[in-house]
Amino acid sequence: MDILHYQQAFLKYLTSKKWVQEPKNLYEPVDYILQLGGKRIRPVLALMAADIFGKDYQEALPAALAIEVFHNFTLVHDDIMDDAPLRRGKPTVHEKWDINTGILSGDAMLILAYQYFENYAPDVFHKLAKLFSKTALEVCDGQQLDVDFETRNDVTIDEYINMIRLKTSVLVAAALKMGAIVAETKDKNADLIYDFGLNLGLAFQLQDDYLDTFGDPDTFGKQIGGDIIENKKTYLYLKALEVANEDDQQKLAYFYRKKLKDNSIKITEVTRIFELNDIPILIKQQIETYTEKAFNTLLKMHISEANKQNLKNFGLWLMNRTV
Ligand code: IPE
Ligand code: IPE
Ligand code: MG
Ligand code: MG
Ligand code: MG
Repeated sequence: MDILHYQQAFLKYLTSKKWVQEPKNLYEPVDYILQLGGKRIRPVLALMAADIFGKDYQEALPAALAIEVFHNFTLVHDDIMDDAPLRRGKPTVHEKWDINTGILSGDAMLILAYQYFENYAPDVFHKLAKLFSKTALEVCDGQQLDVDFETRNDVTIDEYINMIRLKTSVLVAAALKMGAIVAETKDKNADLIYDFGLNLGLAFQLQDDYLDTFGDPDTFGKQIGGDIIENKKTYLYLKALEVANEDDQQKLAYFYRKKLKDNSIKITEVTRIFELNDIPILIKQQIETYTEKAFNTLLKMHISEANKQNLKNFGLWLMNRTV
């Protein structure tokens, strides 16, 4: 089945839920962020995995919703931490309401996410909750590292890869594994699909970093240059430090030393240094490398060629996305 089919099934399930209750100031932001759109990548992966491992994919809908609610919770808090004004082309929750609202509505979403696992029998529930708790803590670890790196000037590319594995990849991987758990497939299958997700997740976050600087402001939905403003030690920055001449290296280090009020010159200059040093090409190569790694895991899996192709198509779609 194609991606659109899973997306639509998920959306139908999501919109069948009534998010808003009293107190409205707590739940309206939950409804707002969940209805704002997004690619719904993680729930689609959960449904796909359940399907691939022989279960009616509808059975994975509660787990898929748990993951999407959790993902949206991380976005609400991430946007506070990153001081981001825009999400999916609309004001972020803390912009539209305020920071306290973002904190508490986010907290509520984390709990709501857990509640969806209550739809499963004890055995499956236990496995899902265990994987979820581990994953959620890893995401916190990754988010903390991401923030720590803003004020460090000795971050390595290996450290960066570890950080994005934690903040982003483990959730993509867990989404797939949850589908496998709901399908009650062999542990070996669940582990292999998790590995596929880890590498796909790395490619996905690299593409996110690329789009943050080089995306189309009319379609990307987030503030272009946000990572530059926040001194994020992305692959773009770390690779440029590695390959640029001394003059450019010093300029980069200078711009990333502090946070500024007016960022227009910083964004223009840093973007120019990235471009002059072919960083867009180099990051694209990394994205392809991790996507290929993910595809290689598929070779070890005993699933139909059609299913492998579905997963590959998903990976290729992610790699070439503009949103
Ligand atoms: C954004 O995730 C946060 C990252 C981990 C890069 P998505 O790009 O999946 O966001 P939506 O849900 O589609 O808006
Ligand atoms: C997001 O990383 C990771 C999580 C939300 C856990 P980013 O900070 O790059 O995500 P965006 O770009 O704001 O979506
Ligand atoms: Mg962010
Ligand atoms: Mg962030
Ligand atoms: Mg980003």
